[in-house]
Order: sequence, then structure tokens, then C-alpha cells
Amino acid sequence: MRICLLVLLFCACQANAQRPVDYSGQLAAGYELGVIPGLQTLDNALNFAVIGDWGRQGEFHQREVALQMAKAMAGLGGSFIISTGDNIYPQGVASVQDPLWQSSFEQVYHHAWLQRDWYAILGNHDYYGNVDAQIDYGKISRRWHMPARYYTMKKQLSGGKKVQFVFLDTNGLENGYYNDPEMTAELSKQDTTAQLRWLRETLADTDPTIQWRVVVGHHPLYTAGKRVAITGPVRSKLEPILNQFKVDVYLCGHDHDLQYNKPAGPTHHFLSGAGSELSNVPHQMPWSVFYKGVNGFMTFSIQPDKFLVQIIDAKGAILYTKLIPKG
Ligand SMILES: [Fe+2]
Repeated sequence: MRICLLVLLFCACQANAQRPVDYSGQLAAGYELGVIPGLQTLDNALNFAVIGDWGRQGEFHQREVALQMAKAMAGLGGSFIISTGDNIYPQGVASVQDPLWQSSFEQVYHHAWLQRDWYAILGNHDYYGNVDAQIDYGKISRRWHMPARYYTMKKQLSGGKKVQFVFLDTNGLENGYYNDPEMTAELSKQDTTAQLRWLRETLADTDPTIQWRVVVGHHPLYTAGKRVAITGPVRSKLEPILNQFKVDVYLCGHDHDLQYNKPAGPTHHFLSGAGSELSNVPHQMPWSVFYKGVNGFMTFSIQPDKFLVQIIDAKGAILYTKLIPKG
């Protein structure tokens, strides 16, 4: 009897364990893209990829990153992709018919496993174009989702728990942008005070099934890269809110590299801004855990009590893996 209980306990532990991804079923069925060697997964996890700062008509290694992200999504059985903004360089899009949608998005991320839902936010380069066109593109695309400048959604985990995602438009929090004549027209349509009030109200959701809170914004609160000295305005406005509501994860881009930063407080900060052109300007900061100035993206696998993050480069090498328990 005691042995049976031990065997059951062992099996239960194994069922939740981190384990290598098995591509064999897909390969047998004719999958041809290739694999990410060493990719790990968690059983029954919510899997998704995070990419930022990408739309450059396939150039600056955008296509290579896309291919590896497709392989990772295939391996994990990924549900969706989060874009941390600066979707279309250099100046956003002019309309929903702008050819850049084809050359910088549709034709680059053409792989079957990237025909999943994309949840996107706005970066500063998107503000140089027609912001409403990025929102409206979701009405003619099956996979592009940007229902508003800021929005929220919940995703189900195993066991009845949920992840609350909150997608922000952080452009209005950057004081310097109000002096940029090319941005003021679009910025004037924003009510930043209203957005921050909405953020507090959204995070105050008392739904007892919310297990994780993930906030997504283009601008980092913490970076070890190019913008290391200028994160103050965004940090001062957002960090008190992330702390108050014990936000687990903040996803961002803007600096063109890959980072994991863990300052004091409840929030893990992941910067995924290496979808195309790079800006490798590393600083060793007190909050730095991981920094690499190479092209790539990240994957997240979330269970109710822990999540697994993997940072992957444009050659398909896994640069960093971390299993983080619920704090
Ligand atoms: Fe940016």
C-alpha cells in the first residue's frame, strides 16, 4: 500500500515536471521546419512566445527569428504570440492596406505555427504612423489582435486558474515624446490619466481564479541596455501600480536586445526587443540577471504554481532557461 502511494506521488510529481519537448509526433506527420534542440516544456502549461521591435521587411535577421519562433511554437504547442511593440518600422503603417503589413508581417511570419493569435501593443515607431490602422487591422486579420490602445484578457490554466494579461500603451508615459512634432498628433488622442486609472481598476479584479498577473508595455521600467538612463518617467508611473497589485511579470521591448531583470519587488521584468535590428549596449546593473545583444525571442510556459521562460536566439540556440515559482 505504502509503495503504491509512493508510486502515485512520484507519477503526480512527474506529471508536473519540466521535460524535453517531443517533436516526434509532428515529424512523423511530415513537419519540416526543424526543432529547437534542448527546448523544454511543462505539462498542461499555457505556452506562448514574446517578440518585440520587429517589422523591417524581413531584414536585420527578422526572417531568421521568425523561423526559430515557428519551431519553438511547434515544439511547445504554443497558443499565441505577444508583440511588445514597434511592430512596423520605421514609421508604423499608413492604413490597413499599407503594403508594409504584407512585407513586414504577413510574409515574414508565414509559418503555420505563427498563424496563431498575435496580441500586439504600440511602440513609439508605431506612433509615427496611423495608430488607428494598427487597431483596425484586427478587423481584417484572423490573427492580429489590438482591439484598442490598451486592453486586457484572461487565459485559462489547468485546474481552473487563470492568467490575467494587461496590454498597455506606454507612449503617453514618456515625457520626451510630447516634444516630438511627429508624435504629438497621435499622443493628443491619449488620456494617460484615464489609462492609469483603468490599469488600477483592471488589476483590482477580485476574480479568485486569477493566479498570475502579466502586464505588457513597450517601454522598460528596468533595462541594462541603450535606454539604461532614461527609464525614470515610465518607472515612476507604473512601478507603484505593479507593486500594489503584485504583478508577477512585466513584458516589454524598446531596447533591441534580450534581458531578464529582477529588481526588488514582486515583478519579474523580461525585455524582448530583438526581433530585427539590434542595439547592443550592455551595462551590468544591480537588477540584471540576463543580458544578450543578439536577435531572438522568448517563450513562456505557465502552470498554476510556476512558469518556465526560455530565451532563444536567431539560430535556435537556447541562451537562458529559468523556472520561476509563484512568489
Ligand atoms: Fe521603441
